[in-house]
Amino acid sequence: MARPKQPSTRTTTHPVGSLLWKYSPILGSVAVFSGVVNILALAGSFYMLQVYDRVLPSQSVPTLIGLSVLMFGLYAINGLLEFLRARIMSRVGTRIDRTLTPRVFAAVQVMPLRSRGGGDGMQPLRDLDSIRNFMSGMGLTALFDLPWMPVYLFFVYILHPMLAVVAVGGAIVLIILTIVTEYRSSTPLRAAGQAGGQRLALAETARRNAESIHAMGMAPHIGARYQALNDDYLAHQLKASDAAGGIGNVTKVIRMLLQSAVLGLGAYLVIKNELSAGAIIAASITVSRSLAPIESAIGHWKSFITARISAKRLGDLLTAAAEDESTLVDLPAPKNQLLVESLVVAPPGQREAILKGVSFNLERGDALGVIGPSGSGKSTLARALVGVWSPMTPASAVRLDGASLDQWTPEKLGRHIGYMPQEIELFDGTVADNIARLDANASSEAVVAAAQASGSHELIVRLPDGYQTRMGESGKSLSGGERQRVALARALYGEPFLVVLDEPNASLDNAGDNALTEAILSIRRRGGIAIVIAHRPSALAAVNKVLVMANGQARAFGPKDEVLRNMLQTVPPGTSGPEGLPRPEAAAQNIQKQG
Ligand SMILES: Nc1ncnc2c1ncn2[C@@H]1O[C@H](COP(=O)(O)OP(=O)(O)O)[C@@H](O)[C@H]1O
Ligand SMILES: [Mg+2]
Repeated sequence: MARPKQPSTRTTTHPVGSLLWKYSPILGSVAVFSGVVNILALAGSFYMLQVYDRVLPSQSVPTLIGLSVLMFGLYAINGLLEFLRARIMSRVGTRIDRTLTPRVFAAVQVMPLRSRGGGDGMQPLRDLDSIRNFMSGMGLTALFDLPWMPVYLFFVYILHPMLAVVAVGGAIVLIILTIVTEYRSSTPLRAAGQAGGQRLALAETARRNAESIHAMGMAPHIGARYQALNDDYLAHQLKASDAAGGIGNVTKVIRMLLQSAVLGLGAYLVIKNELSAGAIIAASITVSRSLAPIESAIGHWKSFITARISAKRLGDLLTAAAEDESTLVDLPAPKNQLLVESLVVAPPGQREAILKGVSFNLERGDALGVIGPSGSGKSTLARALVGVWSPMTPASAVRLDGASLDQWTPEKLGRHIGYMPQEIELFDGTVADNIARLDANASSEAVVAAAQASGSHELIVRLPDGYQTRMGESGKSLSGGERQRVALARALYGEPFLVVLDEPNASLDNAGDNALTEAILSIRRRGGIAIVIAHRPSALAAVNKVLVMANGQARAFGPKDEVLRNMLQTVPPGTSGPEGLPRPEAAAQNIQKQG
């Protein structure tokens, strides 16, 4: 039965949102900090008011000193609180990152198994970065300061209602400008995000295929493609920057204008004897300070939108990847049987089945050779057997000792499975790391045992640094045959019950072929099950059963001799066998020789 691939219907809360909710007490304390910071910021206005209206008329130096000391103290506290607020925000950002990273990284890994892929698979990790950056940046601080604007306006109102009218008018204009910023920059930023993703995906492909690109002179063409995507990306970014930047400048001008307007109106009110001189300065400073967060918010609006898009995208991803594995029961290690029931499989994100109902079963000690022309679905079968691609229909299943693969968590299942994909991917690290499946706590005995079981121990100790040879990404420092031997040892590591080898002998020499035969025999001897997708008949030497694939279906399945004899009868001697197979008589001879 398939793992639930669709986002589940139960109402899941937005993962990022709920995380923010979890930190709401801390965010609440930040809000309180912000309140104190903002009220303390009024001290400057208050100081002006006192200096002009009290100190200057009374000519009292002690009052001035007293006020100044008080002022200094308040500013110091203000500075300290702002400092603490910034530190708390950075730490909340870091914690959110730390909490989400394991889930996001896990989702990044399974995404290619769930959907058609394409685009930029690393986007979620960058999304996390952009959320964290926003959390610890000035933009969020500005958002926390915004709600305190009315306090400032109220202060201005106390000074004189007319001044407040001007200030509120200005604030409304600025808020409208903020909304316009949001409206004008969110669309281009979204588009820029997409173009940026495609750009990075192309760069990644170019990096991976550097050898082919260089050898066949493809560099200018791929460069042109990159340039086009980059232009697109830059154009959208520019549009967003222009929108935010242009409006930002207007904001600044309006704020300056407003400050002067308040001064002018204040002067008029002083002439009319409705206001003190100190109040003019105080009002002007307050108005300017009250609008500063809007200006800052508009300046950082891009990072705000980016963080929001990121949070939405991450939330969708995590919701889709959420899988309730906690309810899975711990199953005993399989040791008897592999059952494949009318297996129907399509690549992730696609509807058209490649495997159209394949059934067979194997007992402990069996080894199955899978043969058939290219494109007949052999690799698809291998992927389904190890659980990376899931069955499509309710009736189809791969079962180990009766339990379908989705009854295990991938980690637990992985211990019972050895898999050697057709295109081998090795990791940057030593040969030993790779054989041990990157388990940092692996014992040397287990690593050597796997190498010996795969007949690769001698080959590995002859490498420059033996088991400690660093192989670089995809094992670049090893030959194709050597890589296959390391991958074979990795598949055998931990004596898994089911070992699936997809064309394991594609680049093996004679010694490698013999090692492979020995490896299959050792799996059989210890009561495991081996499945070998065969390209050359030498791989069939150690198997006792054969499955013939054609067009996604099992053409024949049974004991090796029987199946191969039937194939000999259906194909007249002298003609060549089906594509991907040797001529049958050659196959039979070869198998008799080795088997
Ligand atoms: N990731 C994929 N997306 C779409 N089609 C695929 C994918 N992988 C394989 N196929 C198609 O499935 C068919 C069977 O492929 P595969 O199982 O690799 O065959 P084999 O290993 O026997 O050569 C082929 O027609 C191939 O084009
Ligand atoms: Mg294949």
